[in-house]
Amino acid sequence: MKQQLIAGNWKMNGSLAANEALVHGIAQGLQAALSGKQAHVAVCAPAAYLSQVQQLTHSSGIDLGAQDLSAHEQGAYTGEISAAMLKDFAVRYAIVGHSERRHYHAESDELVATKAQRALSAGITPIVCVGETLAEREAGKTEEVVKRQLAAVIHANGHCISEIVVAYEPVWAIGTGKTATPQQAQAVHAVLRAQLQAATPHADRVQILYGGSMNATNAAQLLSQPDIDGGLIGGAALKPADFLTIIAAAAR
Ligand code: PGA
Repeated sequence: MKQQLIAGNWKMNGSLAANEALVHGIAQGLQAALSGKQAHVAVCAPAAYLSQVQQLTHSSGIDLGAQDLSAHEQGAYTGEISAAMLKDFAVRYAIVGHSERRHYHAESDELVATKAQRALSAGITPIVCVGETLAEREAGKTEEVVKRQLAAVIHANGHCISEIVVAYEPVWAIGTGKTATPQQAQAVHAVLRAQLQAATPHADRVQILYGGSMNATNAAQLLSQPDIDGGLIGGAALKPADFLTIIAAAAR
Protein backbone atom coordinates (compact mmCIF):
# COMPACT_ATOMS: atom_id res chain seq x y z
CA MET A 1 0.00 0.00 0.00
CA LYS A 2 1.20 3.50 -0.83
CA GLN A 3 2.54 5.34 2.19
CA GLN A 4 0.77 8.50 3.24
CA LEU A 5 2.62 11.81 3.63
CA ILE A 6 1.89 14.18 6.49
CA ALA A 7 3.60 17.52 5.87
CA GLY A 8 3.48 20.44 8.28
CA ASN A 9 3.35 23.89 6.73
CA TRP A 10 4.60 26.18 9.46
CA LYS A 11 3.99 29.29 7.32
CA MET A 12 5.57 32.44 8.84
CA ASN A 13 5.62 31.10 12.38
CA GLY A 14 8.41 30.05 14.70
CA SER A 15 11.61 31.17 16.37
CA LEU A 16 14.83 29.37 17.24
CA ALA A 17 13.37 28.35 20.60
CA ALA A 18 9.89 27.48 19.31
CA ASN A 19 11.25 25.38 16.42
CA GLU A 20 13.43 23.41 18.78
CA ALA A 21 10.55 22.64 21.11
CA LEU A 22 8.26 21.74 18.22
CA VAL A 23 10.68 19.38 16.46
CA HIS A 24 11.67 17.73 19.74
CA GLY A 25 8.03 17.23 20.61
CA ILE A 26 7.29 15.59 17.26
CA ALA A 27 10.48 13.49 17.23
CA GLN A 28 9.87 12.20 20.75
CA GLY A 29 6.37 10.99 19.97
CA LEU A 30 6.96 9.80 16.42
CA GLN A 31 7.62 6.10 17.02
CA ALA A 32 4.65 5.80 19.35
CA ALA A 33 2.40 7.55 16.81
CA LEU A 34 3.53 5.24 14.01
CA SER A 35 3.25 2.19 16.31
CA GLY A 36 5.16 -0.12 14.01
CA LYS A 37 3.47 1.17 10.86
CA GLN A 38 4.72 3.73 8.38
CA ALA A 39 4.08 7.20 7.04
CA HIS A 40 6.25 9.88 5.50
CA VAL A 41 6.53 12.90 7.77
CA ALA A 42 7.89 16.32 6.83
CA VAL A 43 8.01 19.84 8.22
CA CYS A 44 8.13 22.82 5.85
CA ALA A 45 9.98 25.49 7.79
CA PRO A 46 10.53 29.18 6.98
CA ALA A 47 13.66 29.58 4.82
CA ALA A 48 15.58 31.44 7.52
CA TYR A 49 15.38 28.38 9.78
CA LEU A 50 16.19 25.63 7.27
CA SER A 51 19.71 25.19 8.59
CA GLN A 52 18.49 24.95 12.17
CA VAL A 53 15.66 22.58 11.33
CA GLN A 54 17.98 20.44 9.17
CA GLN A 55 20.04 19.82 12.30
CA LEU A 56 17.03 19.32 14.55
CA THR A 57 15.44 16.76 12.21
CA HIS A 58 18.68 14.91 11.41
CA SER A 59 18.15 11.12 11.87
CA SER A 60 14.72 11.77 13.39
CA GLY A 61 12.59 10.24 10.63
CA ILE A 62 11.25 13.73 9.85
CA ASP A 63 12.03 15.11 6.40
CA LEU A 64 12.74 18.77 5.75
CA GLY A 65 10.62 20.90 3.46
CA ALA A 66 10.65 24.50 2.22
CA GLN A 67 7.60 26.68 1.63
CA ASP A 68 8.60 28.16 -1.73
CA LEU A 69 11.55 28.48 -4.09
CA SER A 70 12.64 30.73 -6.93
CA ALA A 71 11.57 30.13 -10.51
CA HIS A 72 15.10 31.20 -11.51
CA GLU A 73 18.18 29.06 -11.34
CA GLN A 74 20.62 31.69 -10.02
CA GLY A 75 21.77 35.26 -10.47
CA ALA A 76 20.49 38.79 -9.88
CA TYR A 77 17.20 38.03 -8.12
CA THR A 78 17.48 39.80 -4.77
CA GLY A 79 15.72 38.00 -1.96
CA GLU A 80 15.12 34.79 -3.90
CA ILE A 81 16.22 31.30 -2.87
CA SER A 82 17.11 28.75 -5.53
CA ALA A 83 16.36 25.04 -5.64
CA ALA A 84 20.11 24.31 -5.50
CA MET A 85 20.41 26.33 -2.28
CA LEU A 86 17.56 24.37 -0.72
CA LYS A 87 19.25 21.17 -1.78
CA ASP A 88 22.38 22.26 0.15
CA PHE A 89 20.29 21.99 3.32
CA ALA A 90 18.96 18.52 2.47
CA VAL A 91 15.51 19.87 1.65
CA ARG A 92 13.39 17.00 0.31
CA TYR A 93 10.10 18.80 -0.38
CA ALA A 94 9.17 22.31 -1.47
CA ILE A 95 5.63 23.64 -1.39
CA VAL A 96 4.83 25.49 -4.63
CA GLY A 97 1.74 27.47 -5.53
CA HIS A 98 0.29 27.70 -2.03
CA SER A 99 -2.87 29.81 -2.25
CA GLU A 100 -1.28 32.44 0.00
CA ARG A 101 1.48 32.88 -2.58
CA ARG A 102 -0.96 32.84 -5.48
CA HIS A 103 -3.04 35.48 -3.68
CA TYR A 104 -0.54 37.77 -1.91
CA HIS A 105 2.27 37.42 -4.44
CA ALA A 106 0.19 37.13 -7.60
CA GLU A 107 1.77 33.81 -8.59
CA SER A 108 0.35 32.56 -11.87
CA ASP A 109 -0.25 28.95 -12.90
CA GLU A 110 2.73 29.24 -15.25
CA LEU A 111 5.05 30.57 -12.55
CA VAL A 112 4.00 27.76 -10.22
CA ALA A 113 4.67 25.24 -13.00
CA THR A 114 8.17 26.67 -13.52
CA LYS A 115 8.86 26.46 -9.79
CA ALA A 116 7.80 22.81 -9.81
CA GLN A 117 10.20 22.25 -12.69
CA ARG A 118 13.10 23.91 -10.82
CA ALA A 119 12.44 21.76 -7.78
CA LEU A 120 12.31 18.54 -9.80
CA SER A 121 15.53 19.30 -11.63
CA ALA A 122 17.30 19.80 -8.30
CA GLY A 123 15.96 16.50 -6.96
CA ILE A 124 13.41 18.15 -4.66
CA THR A 125 9.81 16.93 -4.63
CA PRO A 126 7.43 19.83 -5.25
CA ILE A 127 4.20 19.80 -3.26
CA VAL A 128 1.99 21.50 -5.84
CA CYS A 129 -1.02 23.20 -4.25
CA VAL A 130 -4.29 23.63 -6.11
CA GLY A 131 -7.67 24.76 -4.86
CA GLU A 132 -10.70 26.89 -5.50
CA THR A 133 -11.97 29.97 -3.65
CA LEU A 134 -15.42 30.02 -2.06
CA ALA A 135 -16.75 32.16 -4.92
CA GLU A 136 -15.41 29.67 -7.47
CA ARG A 137 -16.98 26.74 -5.60
CA GLU A 138 -20.32 28.52 -5.35
CA ALA A 139 -20.18 29.27 -9.07
CA GLY A 140 -19.72 25.55 -9.77
CA LYS A 141 -16.17 26.07 -11.01
CA THR A 142 -14.20 23.89 -8.59
CA GLU A 143 -13.29 21.24 -11.13
CA GLU A 144 -12.40 23.75 -13.83
CA VAL A 145 -10.10 25.71 -11.49
CA VAL A 146 -8.15 22.80 -10.02
CA LYS A 147 -7.77 21.16 -13.43
CA ARG A 148 -6.45 24.39 -14.94
CA GLN A 149 -3.93 24.78 -12.10
CA LEU A 150 -2.71 21.19 -12.39
CA ALA A 151 -2.69 21.24 -16.20
CA ALA A 152 -0.06 23.99 -16.21
CA VAL A 153 2.22 21.85 -14.05
CA ILE A 154 1.62 18.74 -16.17
CA HIS A 155 2.32 20.70 -19.33
CA ALA A 156 5.64 22.06 -18.03
CA ASN A 157 6.87 18.83 -16.49
CA GLY A 158 5.98 16.08 -18.97
CA HIS A 159 7.04 12.60 -17.94
CA CYS A 160 8.44 13.83 -14.57
CA ILE A 161 4.89 14.47 -13.42
CA SER A 162 4.76 11.19 -11.49
CA GLU A 163 7.49 12.61 -9.21
CA ILE A 164 5.36 15.43 -7.82
CA VAL A 165 3.08 15.55 -4.81
CA VAL A 166 -0.24 17.34 -5.26
CA ALA A 167 -2.07 19.09 -2.42
CA TYR A 168 -5.75 19.90 -2.84
CA GLU A 169 -6.37 22.88 -0.59
CA PRO A 170 -9.75 24.55 -0.98
CA VAL A 171 -8.97 28.20 -0.22
CA TRP A 172 -12.14 28.57 1.84
CA ALA A 173 -10.95 25.82 4.20
CA ILE A 174 -7.45 27.18 4.88
CA GLY A 175 -7.03 28.54 8.39
CA THR A 176 -10.80 29.01 8.70
CA GLY A 177 -11.73 25.94 10.72
CA LYS A 178 -14.07 24.99 7.84
CA THR A 179 -12.98 21.64 6.45
CA ALA A 180 -14.14 20.07 3.23
CA THR A 181 -16.20 16.99 4.08
CA PRO A 182 -14.43 13.72 3.29
CA GLN A 183 -16.88 13.30 0.37
CA GLN A 184 -16.22 16.80 -1.01
CA ALA A 185 -12.46 16.28 -0.75
CA GLN A 186 -12.56 12.77 -2.25
CA ALA A 187 -14.60 14.01 -5.22
CA VAL A 188 -11.94 16.58 -6.12
CA HIS A 189 -9.10 14.14 -5.44
CA ALA A 190 -10.70 11.68 -7.88
CA VAL A 191 -10.80 14.41 -10.53
CA LEU A 192 -7.11 15.17 -9.97
CA ARG A 193 -6.22 11.47 -10.06
CA ALA A 194 -8.02 11.04 -13.37
CA GLN A 195 -6.18 14.04 -14.78
CA LEU A 196 -2.84 12.55 -13.69
CA GLN A 197 -3.85 9.18 -15.14
CA ALA A 198 -4.30 10.79 -18.53
CA ALA A 199 -0.77 12.23 -18.25
CA THR A 200 1.27 9.33 -16.88
CA PRO A 201 1.01 5.57 -16.47
CA HIS A 202 2.34 6.07 -12.90
CA ALA A 203 -0.48 8.29 -11.61
CA ASP A 204 -1.38 5.85 -8.89
CA ARG A 205 1.88 6.43 -7.09
CA VAL A 206 1.42 10.22 -6.94
CA GLN A 207 0.48 11.26 -3.42
CA ILE A 208 -2.49 13.63 -3.42
CA LEU A 209 -2.72 15.39 -0.06
CA TYR A 210 -5.68 17.21 1.41
CA GLY A 211 -5.07 20.54 3.18
CA GLY A 212 -7.39 23.02 4.83
CA SER A 213 -8.15 22.87 8.54
CA MET A 214 -7.15 19.23 8.82
CA ASN A 215 -6.82 18.54 12.53
CA ALA A 216 -6.57 15.81 15.14
CA THR A 217 -10.34 15.28 15.09
CA ASN A 218 -11.12 15.15 11.37
CA ALA A 219 -7.88 13.62 10.00
CA ALA A 220 -8.79 9.93 10.26
CA GLN A 221 -11.98 10.30 8.20
CA LEU A 222 -10.30 12.40 5.52
CA LEU A 223 -7.29 10.10 5.32
CA SER A 224 -9.46 7.02 4.88
CA GLN A 225 -10.79 8.24 1.51
CA PRO A 226 -9.44 6.19 -1.41
CA ASP A 227 -7.71 9.08 -3.22
CA ILE A 228 -6.47 11.00 -0.17
CA ASP A 229 -2.84 10.06 0.43
CA GLY A 230 -1.92 12.40 3.24
CA GLY A 231 -2.28 15.93 4.50
CA LEU A 232 -0.71 19.35 4.29
CA ILE A 233 -1.26 20.74 7.75
CA GLY A 234 -1.04 24.38 8.81
CA GLY A 235 -2.31 25.34 12.27
CA ALA A 236 -2.34 21.82 13.71
CA ALA A 237 1.29 21.27 12.65
CA LEU A 238 2.41 23.80 15.25
CA LYS A 239 1.14 21.62 18.12
CA PRO A 240 3.15 18.40 18.56
CA ALA A 241 0.27 16.43 20.11
CA ASP A 242 -2.15 17.32 17.28
CA PHE A 243 0.43 16.71 14.56
CA LEU A 244 1.27 13.32 16.08
CA THR A 245 -2.41 12.36 16.21
CA ILE A 246 -2.67 13.14 12.48
CA ILE A 247 0.46 11.07 11.81
CA ALA A 248 -1.06 8.16 13.76
CA ALA A 249 -4.20 8.42 11.61
CA ALA A 250 -2.03 8.25 8.46
CA ALA A 251 0.17 5.32 9.49
CA ARG A 252 -0.47 2.22 7.37
P1 PGA B 1 -4.52 25.07 7.83
O1 PGA B 1 -3.48 25.41 6.65
O2 PGA B 1 -4.31 23.62 8.18
O3 PGA B 1 -4.14 26.00 8.93
O4 PGA B 1 -5.89 25.32 7.28
C1 PGA B 1 -3.20 24.48 5.63
C2 PGA B 1 -2.29 25.11 4.61
O5 PGA B 1 -2.46 26.30 4.32
O6 PGA B 1 -1.40 24.44 4.05
